[in-house]
Amino acid sequence: MKIYDFDRVIDRKNTSSYKWDNPLYQGKPMLPMPVADMEFAVADEILEALDNITQHGVLGYSIVPDSLKLLAQKKIQEDYQWETELEWQVWLPGIVPGITLACDLFANETRGVATTIPVYHPFHLIPTWLGRPLITFPMVEKEGRWTYDFIAFEEALKKQPAVFLFCNPHNPGGTVFNQDEIDLIISLCKQYDCMIISDEIHADLRIHPQSKHICIGQFIEEIPSISFFATSKAFNTAGLGGCVAIIPHKSTREAFVKKTFGYMPMLSRHSIDVMSATYQHGSNWLSQLIPYLKQNHDFLMDFVKQQAGLDMIPLEATYLAWISYDQSWGDLPERLLEHGLHVLRGEQFKGKNFIRLNFACPHSQLEEACQIIASLSH
Ligand SMILES: Cc1ncc(COP(=O)(O)O)c(C=O)c1O
Repeated sequence: MKIYDFDRVIDRKNTSSYKWDNPLYQGKPMLPMPVADMEFAVADEILEALDNITQHGVLGYSIVPDSLKLLAQKKIQEDYQWETELEWQVWLPGIVPGITLACDLFANETRGVATTIPVYHPFHLIPTWLGRPLITFPMVEKEGRWTYDFIAFEEALKKQPAVFLFCNPHNPGGTVFNQDEIDLIISLCKQYDCMIISDEIHADLRIHPQSKHICIGQFIEEIPSISFFATSKAFNTAGLGGCVAIIPHKSTREAFVKKTFGYMPMLSRHSIDVMSATYQHGSNWLSQLIPYLKQNHDFLMDFVKQQAGLDMIPLEATYLAWISYDQSWGDLPERLLEHGLHVLRGEQFKGKNFIRLNFACPHSQLEEACQIIASLSH
């Protein structure tokens, strides 16, 4: 069994990296911890799949083979004991375009889109891009984790959104929603006749040992639902994209597929073969990644707790720390940027006085980030 070295620092500069070659830095040295990709090389089997394509040399159009469909079906069955039909699957190059398309199709100018805040920014931007009403409700801290303010959620649903966008595990905040929360979300959405679109891209990135990911789509019966799954986030192949939408409801699925025509490019052979390799061989790499991320998480938590005016709730999943700062830190993201550390500003996710820091990096880089933060303390 191959042992992976996540401590290895890989130079990503001049690789057209969105993170490292950001024009914002203007060539200045920068430790970038914004967008959600990891600093680690992928599993060997993924590289082999890519090598095979290179050796073959032909890069024509591709179809999603039945073998990949069966692998996705098997994973859903094994992870959730959810028996899905192959015909429920709709394969797409990315989740964000899939959600955009669904909101365009199922929401309208009077019945908009509900989502919680803070949230992964496309969730609140998509309705705005499409000219659909955006209805938000806040997350609250309860018993040491972020969860919904369910009273505010019901108030939001009373405004009659057509679509509720659910992010589970949640980005940012790392919540893995439990069965009670899932049941309540379904019963409220059913009561207010609101479709549920669920994004499960972070499902395999559970770092809290007790957290169990529950797929909401499995329990939805009387309202339409779309559940998006992808291997790209947990296996660090985000640049290749690829995802599957599970849409059990026939007319919803047919309308969705029709809407993709002319808009959605086909999946590349690279993304298809990489997803196949990941489903079949990714578990060794992932089983080593998770404890590494957990160690980084715990290190960061300890660091944050020692800094007056900074706070963080432990994550159940994801590698995206959601850190609050008080006034004594001034404009923390801006100050960090000036001192060579790029993190995302909470406002991007509609969270005020937060930063989102991506700790999926070699430990040495995380230590360096903490040193930069500490150097700005008062
Ligand atoms: C919750 C969530 N959904 C979707 C994506 C991106 O998905 P895709 O690249 O398939 O559009 C991200 C990326 O960080 C994410 O955090």
